[in-house]
Amino acid sequence: MNYKEALNHTIFKTISKSAAELNLDSYVIGGFVRDYLLKRGDAKDIDVVAIGSGIALAKQVAKNLPNKPKVQVFKTYGTAMLKLNDIEVEFVGARKESYNENSRNPVVENGTLQDDQNRRDFSINALALDLSEANFGDLLDPFNGVQDLEYKIIRTPLDPDITYSDDPLRMMRAIRFATQLGFTIEKESLDAITRNNERIKIITNERIVVELNKILESKTPSIGFLLLEETGLLKYILPELTALKGIDEVEGQKHKDNFYHTLEVVDNIAKHTNDVWLRWAALLHDIGKAPTKRFSKKVGWTFHAHEFEGSKMVYHLFKRLKMPLNEKMKFVQKLVFMSSRPIVLAQDIVTDSAVRRLVFDAGDYVEDLMTLCEADITTKNPKKFNKYHNNFKIVREKIVEVEEKDSVRNFQPPVSGEEIMETFNIKPSREIGLIKEAIKEAILEGDIPNEHEAAFNLMLEKGKALGLKISD
Ligand code: CTP
Repeated sequence: MNYKEALNHTIFKTISKSAAELNLDSYVIGGFVRDYLLKRGDAKDIDVVAIGSGIALAKQVAKNLPNKPKVQVFKTYGTAMLKLNDIEVEFVGARKESYNENSRNPVVENGTLQDDQNRRDFSINALALDLSEANFGDLLDPFNGVQDLEYKIIRTPLDPDITYSDDPLRMMRAIRFATQLGFTIEKESLDAITRNNERIKIITNERIVVELNKILESKTPSIGFLLLEETGLLKYILPELTALKGIDEVEGQKHKDNFYHTLEVVDNIAKHTNDVWLRWAALLHDIGKAPTKRFSKKVGWTFHAHEFEGSKMVYHLFKRLKMPLNEKMKFVQKLVFMSSRPIVLAQDIVTDSAVRRLVFDAGDYVEDLMTLCEADITTKNPKKFNKYHNNFKIVREKIVEVEEKDSVRNFQPPVSGEEIMETFNIKPSREIGLIKEAIKEAILEGDIPNEHEAAFNLMLEKGKALGLKISD
């Protein structure tokens, strides 16, 4: 087969010409070819393999391009990269590799195209298009990758035990591709992942998180998490989630399986947001339930303060996985911490003051919190399902209403500490805190509007009750 039309971009002609000048063959390989055949839209990364020096080819290409882009050379890996507007082109010499037992860094030897294809992760990622002037666009598909694309199968070119053991990150990549593309991992491959799962330990957390994020960003993330669980990888990566698995029964009382519930919540939220951090919050919203699970004869199963416990666990989890410990982590923590708040509202009559308190506590995260809580409704009882959703609709409407009336989202006290001190001619003291708290409570309860005049009057009243005198 020939796919000349995949190579319309001028860069391919330039690579072809440059390779001819250096008297070597070159091919575009991997994700670019796969995504072209899957019609996944324009690829931003192009991988080129040279039968010879990839670095020399990159330099020659740069020389032949009108804007003479800078070539970034990664000597240790024998690769080079150049950027062309928003496209990154990576060059590598064809390799024949064997791997170290304890690291994923290969011992590299020069090889043929076939050697290079052999060492790739999956048949669908080993597809190559010839860039030589004579055979421009010819497809080289030694492992029937095109057929696997058609039948939606993830399969390794070599014995899967070798492919996965060579580079254990590929176990995660297999699951990630299965999730992103809706493909099935071939049985031998899945068994090999299960056999080799422990080797994921040699992979850096940063790389694992890249794959986890891609799974979470997919349309149906549960596919990936179920496969991670099934293959035994999940316990090495996110033991907090595997700990949620299972249903206990004591004296005929059961709780729900919080692992499968969590996955339902993640799939639900994926329909309403592309924000990966909000999806992380959904994934982690119940992790505090494992360590807080108790049974008592009186009340049955409880998960007392699991939201607080869970929010603390978020920090440790992010730290362990080398994820950012910045405002994104705080966002996830806050959502986990508040994840039960709106549910309580949804079970009851929605009062203005309860909504005002919710907005006050959640601040700018209130809409995301609502999205999480709506996704958290996984009851199979249609009556309850409708009731909760309707109540959440009311909560959302009330949030807007309450916001228009009293803006409590990023609450600034309408009467400041200084004003209280000046009015009563007092120094910093406990009374100031009491007055401020009384004003805040009155606003949240809806007893007074969030305005200076009303707050000032309440301050005078409270001051008097505390025995304070107005200064002249
Ligand atoms: N590859 C591999 N083993 C890995 C990583 C990559 O064999 N652990 C090979 C595959 O042939 C892959 C190519 O290198 O197609 C490029 O890798 P990468 O850019 O990471 O992935 P893509 O396949 O391009 O897919 P995506 O952009 O979705 O990550």
